[in-house]
Amino acid sequence: MDVMIGILTQHEPAATHEEKLFSASQVRRSSCRIGAFAFSIPAMQAGLAGYSDMAMRVVARRRGCPYAVTEALLDRVILTGGRGREKRSILCQADHPVAGQIMGSEADEMAAAAKVLLEAGFDVIDLNFACPVKKVMGRCRGGYLLSDPDEAINIMRAVRAVVPGPLTMKLRRALDESGAAAENFARIFGEAVNLNFAAITVHGRTVEQKYTGSADWDFLRDLKVRYPNMTLFGSGDVFTAQDALRMYRHTGVDGVWIARGAIGNPWIFREFAALIAGQPALDPPGIFEQREGLLEHFSLAVEIYGEEQASRQMRKIGIKYSRLHPEGADVWRAFIAVKSQAHWNDVLDRFYSSDGPGRNPESVPDAQDLYKDTACFASPENSAC
Ligand SMILES: Cc1cc2nc3c(=O)[nH]c(=O)nc-3n(C[C@H](O)[C@H](O)[C@H](O)COP(=O)(O)O)c2cc1C
Repeated sequence: MDVMIGILTQHEPAATHEEKLFSASQVRRSSCRIGAFAFSIPAMQAGLAGYSDMAMRVVARRRGCPYAVTEALLDRVILTGGRGREKRSILCQADHPVAGQIMGSEADEMAAAAKVLLEAGFDVIDLNFACPVKKVMGRCRGGYLLSDPDEAINIMRAVRAVVPGPLTMKLRRALDESGAAAENFARIFGEAVNLNFAAITVHGRTVEQKYTGSADWDFLRDLKVRYPNMTLFGSGDVFTAQDALRMYRHTGVDGVWIARGAIGNPWIFREFAALIAGQPALDPPGIFEQREGLLEHFSLAVEIYGEEQASRQMRKIGIKYSRLHPEGADVWRAFIAVKSQAHWNDVLDRFYSSDGPGRNPESVPDAQDLYKDTACFASPENSAC
């Protein structure tokens, strides 16, 4: 079988000042860990379809993110590849520890896919039983499995049998608000504890809620009280470093999964590191720092996808970075029109060539925008999803 997952080793960047700072443990060590991997701060970059590729992960790591997860990778795509889909699972040496997240419906295929990811260099295998997208649910994957605990448990056992190292999973708090759904969640969660999963991430919304309403942080708090020895990561409504700190304190979770809040704002990790260390809130990154982040992100994306595809992809990334720019609306409009690397550079020259203070992002969701343009949700690339 062809192994489709590439490991990029060239162009490894020298450690930046921030990387050295974080890796030298100058930030207070947290108890947040997965197996043997201890994290400098109790936060990680979430799995985000269409976003959390190697480029986004490395840019975040250079700004203090200690751990990151791929987007949900279809087990069949991992096993058979095709049409460049494997690019979403490319790794590089600066991208560890990293979890490969798999999604599927057949226990054997999920186990086989987990083995491929381990052989390709992933440190942790993460199971996705959370995705609420209709097409995913219709194929008995992702969040659907919260309604079928027998099959979910079959998958968990099959994958556990082939993963000797850390195995984790991503859940939502239930399929819906019914009592039966709560029981299903409890069975699956309890089995993960029995099978010695290294951590479980719970998004505090139901599958039925998708991204509406708010995430139930009290649910996360009660779960942590009930399972004090299980490493629990909380997800939902973390848009700023202050939100991350509030979730951490309110729920008592071991780590905060930063999702929409990290798109276009990799500095959220260093901001959270300062807050958790009891320091005053940092200023948002200035214009030159933002330019540096954008350039890094683009050049890593070019390594993965090539210039043409990267230029298209970076539109949706650029518009998220624009939230931090004082002329955000104009920058947004300029990025949305980008078609080539030259065009991308023009936008940087126009808006990012003189330094000045940046702007703090607002603590608000923009799920609907994001929801529409993710690979998993909309792109033909993922039509098998
Ligand atoms: C665009 C988008 C793509 C997502 N893709 C994934 C995914 O591939 N795997 C996963 O576990 N969660 C995925 N999620 C869910 C997030 O990781 C997170 O649990 C959710 O957005 C709630 O956190 P937030 O409200 O802080 O954004 C996705 C969410 C969004 C908005």
